[in-house]
Amino acid sequence: MWIKGIRVENVGPHKSLDVKLRLGSVGVFGSNGSGKSTLIDLVYSALTNDFGRFPAAKADLVNLAAEAKAPAYVEVDAEHNGVAFTVRRGLRGKNPHVLTFPDKEKDNTFTDARLIADELGKIGLDKRLLDFAVFKPQNQIYSFIDVIPSVRGKAYQVLNRTEDCETFYAVLGDALKAYGNVAAVVDNSDELTERAATLAAERDALKAEKATQEGNYLLPDHKTRAAEIVEADRRFLQQQEELERLKGEAKRLYADVLEPAQQKEAKLWQRVVDLEGQLREVEPAAQAARDFLQRWEQVQAYRKQRDRLDKEAAELEKLRDRVPPKPAAGEPTEAEIQGKRVVLSKLVAEQTAAEKRLTRLTQAGKKLDTCPTCGQDVPADTGAYAEAAAAVAALPAKIAALGTQIADKARLLHTYAERRSLLREWEVRKEAHDRAALALTAVAEPEGDLPEARATLAQLTDVTNQLKSAKAFHADADKAKAAAWAKYEANTDRRTELEAELADAKQDEARLKRAKDRLAEDRAARLAVATLDGRIAEYAARLRETKADLARVRERVKASYRARKLAEILERARDVVHRDGLPQRVAQANLHRMEADINAGLAHFGSPFWVEADEDLTFVAHKPGLPSHTAGLLSGGQKMVLAVAFWNAVASMYRQDIGMLVLDEPTANLDAANVTGLAEAMAAFTGSVRGKRQLIMVTHADALRPAFDQVISLG
Ligand SMILES: Nc1ncnc2c1ncn2[C@@H]1O[C@H](COP(=O)(O)OP(=O)(O)O)[C@@H](O)[C@H]1O
Ligand SMILES: [Mg+2]
Repeated sequence: MWIKGIRVENVGPHKSLDVKLRLGSVGVFGSNGSGKSTLIDLVYSALTNDFGRFPAAKADLVNLAAEAKAPAYVEVDAEHNGVAFTVRRGLRGKNPHVLTFPDKEKDNTFTDARLIADELGKIGLDKRLLDFAVFKPQNQIYSFIDVIPSVRGKAYQVLNRTEDCETFYAVLGDALKAYGNVAAVVDNSDELTERAATLAAERDALKAEKATQEGNYLLPDHKTRAAEIVEADRRFLQQQEELERLKGEAKRLYADVLEPAQQKEAKLWQRVVDLEGQLREVEPAAQAARDFLQRWEQVQAYRKQRDRLDKEAAELEKLRDRVPPKPAAGEPTEAEIQGKRVVLSKLVAEQTAAEKRLTRLTQAGKKLDTCPTCGQDVPADTGAYAEAAAAVAALPAKIAALGTQIADKARLLHTYAERRSLLREWEVRKEAHDRAALALTAVAEPEGDLPEARATLAQLTDVTNQLKSAKAFHADADKAKAAAWAKYEANTDRRTELEAELADAKQDEARLKRAKDRLAEDRAARLAVATLDGRIAEYAARLRETKADLARVRERVKASYRARKLAEILERARDVVHRDGLPQRVAQANLHRMEADINAGLAHFGSPFWVEADEDLTFVAHKPGLPSHTAGLLSGGQKMVLAVAFWNAVASMYRQDIGMLVLDEPTANLDAANVTGLAEAMAAFTGSVRGKRQLIMVTHADALRPAFDQVISLG
């Protein structure tokens, strides 16, 4: 491959850059910060779409002074294996990726990053080789000489295309670990077999013992009979106990309940008898006292009645005083009053007629004058009118006088009626009073002493009450006595019954003992069998487990044998792909193949030493007349010369795949003498690559300028 042209717009320190490159050696010059490394890294990023070599994020790479919407991209024209292509990577905006094949008629443009990678792969561009063998970062130019062998071996893997060996080695390692676990089984099958035999023997011994114990079982008929005997004995003892209890209870019942109840009842009965005697004694005197009191109370009632009669007599006197005296003028009659009422109604009619007449006369339209009597307007000088007016004026006085007379007579008539009724009442009550007074004069006082009679009756009442309550107490005591008796009798009945039963149930002692012993033997045998069953089951379970363990162990031992065999094969295979195995041998072979090329390169540089690949994947340097030593001991300048020769040999070995080399500041740490030497060597080297391969070198060393086919100055 070689780079034909580079265009950069607004990336890093570059505002706008457009350079063409030649096939040959190209030197890139410029002061610090002029953008040399940026340019190299941009070419790498354009080819790989990997911006990881920049310290900043991709978006931050846009030139700080660029206009807001100005384009920012890198575009590289190159040719690889005879195919020309242009690849462009934008830093912002849509469609940042473009790959074109200018020589192709069709299918010559791609804008998808993945497709671009595929297309570049198709023409043989390999990112891993670009990383390893073409774009050497400043500090890794002679890493193949210096670093420790394992790292170096790893580095060569890319070169040798053996990097998959590493993955394969790891996979085989994992598999080995897994098989190692399977293979590491402990074979204890003998021990397990022995254990199984012991367990079986112990289980069989227990079974034999069980059979012996089962021989001790009682026959069912015998067992039933023995159980009946024992049960009968148990009942007998129970009844005996019951009888004893009843006896004790009888004693207690008699002493604590029945006897006290009887005594109490007798005492209370005695009291009833005593009180009845007392009552009989008091009775005659009480009868006399009752008679006396009855009589006495009657007299008291009479006395009260007499007092009432005396009071009534006084009242009657008062009643007679209220009777009005008989009027002197004599008593008016109803007929007389009636006659006066007729006259009165005639007068009233007369007045009404006079008033009508007067009205009529007034209305006839006679001339009127003021009446001297009544003050009203009257017809002047008219006899009829005067007559009528006189009548109207005189009649009211007459009517009033007659009314008064009628009222007086009526009042007088009422007074006489009242007087007669009062007198009649007095006469009736007076007669009754006199009759009662006469009857009372016959009542006589009873003989005897009132307090004494009362005391006798109180005594009677007291004795009667006492007797009543004594009878009630006695009735209760009697009931209690009866209840006690009933209990005591029930107890006696039960005792009699039990005594009769016990007399019948008495057992034969020897027979009972035999029955008990045989039952106990049977029970013991059954218990032993149950225990033995448990132990037999336990042994059987353990035996099963042990057999299962044994089967598992045997299976594992078999698997382990197979695993060990397989592991041996895997281990051998893994040793082959270890970096010290096949990869190292390939690397070694490649280094040997490159030896001639490297030494030719060194000869071009006019180098005073030549090299030989050694076992450690590095080189031994030989100098004429001096002892040989490892390339690591060469001076910095010599190492750099060797590095250029080495990478050039790598490039020519993989010509098909890469064919170019890019070195960023290989001269950085060289002293002036070394730089001069390198300049001369480069001049010779340029001659050998011109028109064939491309070498791009970034450097400050002005001494090198004349050695390059082309010089690009930045900044
Ligand atoms: N986005 C950016 N815009 C402008 N300048 C930048 C940007 N990113 C980095 N730089 C400048 O680029 C320079 C680094 O370029 P570099 O290629 O390493 O220089 P050298 O020529 O020394 O190899 C620094 O001076 C840095 O400030
Ligand atoms: Mg730099």
